[in-house]
Amino acid sequence: MKTTPDFDYLFKLVIVGNSNVGKSSLLVRLMDKSFENSHCTTIGADCNTKSIKLGETTCKLQIWDTAGQERYESIVSSFYRGAHGIILVYDVSDRKSFEGVSKRWLHQVRKCIHDQNVNMILVANKRDVPDSQRMVARWEGEILAQELNIRYIEASAKSYVNIERIFTSLATDIKSTIGKPNYVPLNSINLAHDKSDQHYGPRPRIRRRCGC
Ligand code: GTP
Ligand code: MG
Repeated sequence: MKTTPDFDYLFKLVIVGNSNVGKSSLLVRLMDKSFENSHCTTIGADCNTKSIKLGETTCKLQIWDTAGQERYESIVSSFYRGAHGIILVYDVSDRKSFEGVSKRWLHQVRKCIHDQNVNMILVANKRDVPDSQRMVARWEGEILAQELNIRYIEASAKSYVNIERIFTSLATDIKSTIGKPNYVPLNSINLAHDKSDQHYGPRPRIRRRCGC
């Protein structure tokens, strides 16, 4: 028996950034609102799904939290396939992680994504750290985001600041991109890591709340 899906859109998002910047912490905060002070490094990638409301539509987000350690680079590269959105994360108290966005992650995204139409967002995590520990100024992040023509958000997984905003902003951007005539539908792309019965991008028929 065929069941009606409980979402209007399904978006694949991939979180990338150097090891220790807080990628897993941001996702765990989104999923169950908890926070761990210890660092348990991600091996390969983890996946979670979360439904969010954007106006009247429900977007199901399939979120891939990837490993920042270089030894997993080739595995991580394979997770970009079919992605609608990339969350580029750095740690404001770690200058190398900020440099890593330009030197490493953007290269990897461009190399792996080719002709796919993908939205990105730049996240400066750990904004809770005291000024004396801050190594990347807000303006530096803002300038990088401007150059890339993407959004910039300062967040803290620890203090629970702007967690939902990261995901709703990116989903909003993806949804508006999909509405544009030059959008290349990504649901035609085969997704190596996803179940065959899932649909990516806009569903053929948009389910609307009708109150009946
Ligand atoms: P990899 O899986 O190795 O790529 O690392 P990751 O980017 O997933 O980092 P993870 O989420 O495991 O967090 C690394 C460390 O940073 C942990 O000790 C967290 O407790 C800490 N951390 C994460 N987010 C924040 C934050 O917003 N503020 C502060 N002060 N610490 C944080
Ligand atoms: Mg991790």
